[in-house]
Amino acid sequence: MTPPLPGTDDRRGLILLADDSGLAALIARTALEAEGHTVLEVADGVEALAVLRARRVDLVVTDWLMPNLDGLGLMRAIRSSPELEQPYVIFLTSMDRRAQIVEGLDAGADDYLPKPFDPEELLARVRAGLRVVRLQRGLEAHAAELERSNAAFAQFASVASHDLNEPLRTITSYLALLRERVGGRLGPDADEFLGFAVDGATRMRRLIDDLLVWSRVDGESHSATPVDLSAEVATVLDDLSCRIAAEHAVVEVGSLPVVPGDASQLRRVLANVIGNALKFRGAADPHVRVAATATPDTVRLTVTDNGVGVDPDDAARIFDMFTRVGHRDAYEGTGLGLAICRRIVERHGGGITVTANPGGGAAFVITLPAVAASPLAA
Ligand SMILES: Nc1ncnc2c1ncn2[C@@H]1O[C@H](COP(=O)(O)OP(=O)(O)OP(=O)(O)O)[C@@H](O)[C@H]1O
Ligand SMILES: [Mg+2]
Repeated sequence: MTPPLPGTDDRRGLILLADDSGLAALIARTALEAEGHTVLEVADGVEALAVLRARRVDLVVTDWLMPNLDGLGLMRAIRSSPELEQPYVIFLTSMDRRAQIVEGLDAGADDYLPKPFDPEELLARVRAGLRVVRLQRGLEAHAAELERSNAAFAQFASVASHDLNEPLRTITSYLALLRERVGGRLGPDADEFLGFAVDGATRMRRLIDDLLVWSRVDGESHSATPVDLSAEVATVLDDLSCRIAAEHAVVEVGSLPVVPGDASQLRRVLANVIGNALKFRGAADPHVRVAATATPDTVRLTVTDNGVGVDPDDAARIFDMFTRVGHRDAYEGTGLGLAICRRIVERHGGGITVTANPGGGAAFVITLPAVAASPLAA
């Protein structure tokens, strides 16, 4: 179910007023209630936290000085409790205590109001705060929904591709049997049709295999280990050695670092990107360069080629599932390779993009966290 878009119609909110100084609290409460807000009033920070744990409060107005837990302590406690539905927080400061402003905002408050305050100004700040908190909660709900539907789709893709394998195996074996038993005896048309059927089944197998890989990216090993990119590239080039020789390709590899990650997943990324660099070749013999630059935080790996290149208009969408551009019929492929790469790289806390190589061809840039800061390295 899609959550409603952040509403702009309902401007009233559930407001928690934490203030033990009777008169200011009364003025604030009266003004807020006159505007239609529901106000919960408490006299200290501990009580305020108890309310926040029990109710989905939109906005907190808190005084600075309070018994038990003061305003600063309350704000810190709110922001360090991710399980709380985070409210917008406005704190009240004394005119003569300017340092509180910096301290309060640094503790995670969104806004402040000097005392004594003008009720109209309080109401205006509350209106602005409610707009922000609603937008933020709307975005969070959409992000959660997106994550849920992605997970559901990955689950569907996994089950579907797994279940399609068995009937496909039956089709492939009976086609092979048919070819063996009657091939050449049913006339040239039948042989050609059988050939199409076998090709179709082979393409379908690749597609199902790739879909299964795509759907399982997130479910694979959860801990990062040091991955020597030089060793992984060497393995990939070894696997591609026949193709490299057949295409008269030159692959130059610069010095590559070690990054935290999942070795077999990163090898898959390298295999697809380097494989693409060989596959989408132009008239000249392929010349591929794999190089890396590193900062303390990030490794930037580039794979450049002198092939047909990627049109800037296609640069973003080639990472989508099943997207193949240019001369589709001239090259084999399912169009899932880069979608798998993106999913893997993002799972490592990085990104992948493509630009035109200044010398012609394409330049793929993969960024990866250089230290164990990736989501994998918990
Ligand atoms: N190095 C490259 N040069 C030019 N175009 C490229 C390059 N790499 C990818 N592309 C374009 O991006 C598309 C998507 O690449 P991707 O790796 O996802 O699929 P594929 O190679 O066609 O199939 P698969 O990898 O699933 O076998 C390709 O079909 C191609 O059009
Ligand atoms: Mg590919």
